[in-house]
Amino acid sequence: MRNRRKYSVANFKMNKTRSETVDFLDKLNSLIDTVPKTVLVVCPPITSLGAEFPVDKIWIGVQNINSNESGAYTGEVSIKMIDSHANFVILGHSERREYFNESNEEINKKLITVLKYKLEPILCIGETLKQRKNNEVQKTLKKQLSKCLQNVDSNVIIAYEPVWAIGTGETATSEIIVEAHQMIRNILNDIGFDGEKISILYGGSVNRNNAKELITLDDVDGFLIGGASLDVEHFYDIYKFIEESF
Ligand code: PGA
Repeated sequence: MRNRRKYSVANFKMNKTRSETVDFLDKLNSLIDTVPKTVLVVCPPITSLGAEFPVDKIWIGVQNINSNESGAYTGEVSIKMIDSHANFVILGHSERREYFNESNEEINKKLITVLKYKLEPILCIGETLKQRKNNEVQKTLKKQLSKCLQNVDSNVIIAYEPVWAIGTGETATSEIIVEAHQMIRNILNDIGFDGEKISILYGGSVNRNNAKELITLDDVDGFLIGGASLDVEHFYDIYKFIEESF
């Protein structure tokens, strides 16, 4: 019997002003009429933090932090600045890896900082289309996991996000997702974690039309949702499918 928490995580990326985030959270809060079993996390842009949110049923996360706690890093935001405003931190998103040259080593430093401050990291990993075509999925995931989790001994949430499925409308098939999630659990076991205890979310073009089926997959412990999370009713529908799967 699996005993892992399930998550529904909204990643707004660079969308929504502070007042739009407040409206979204107010609406979402009013739609939820029972205490969620799903861990519901909304990650707005950092500029939305500090606003008055209805946060009794919804957790707040951020999309990135700097690995340093303070210092001369123009334009950056440290964990100390978000500390009391958020509980989760998305790390290693493929857009950060691609557009901001984030390496596994840098992600590892960020992860250690997040854990030091007792926030929960959501570590994103996933292969590109080229890596998949070259049969390098296992190698890629193993490298990402072992480097990002170096010197880490607490469990973190993993988001499997194949790069080719993010924002493309092309969701991975159930077979691909199950295979990758099992691969990830085996790699976690190999590098000293208990893979059965770690929640692995799927991300990549999740929407209200595919979420119902994907959440029935045994190894899928929830979703990291980009585009479809921007519409509150759409995000709520996905959350409901996860709630119904308990
Ligand atoms: P998407 O993004 O749902 O728009 O594909 C997912 C993500 O980037 O986390």
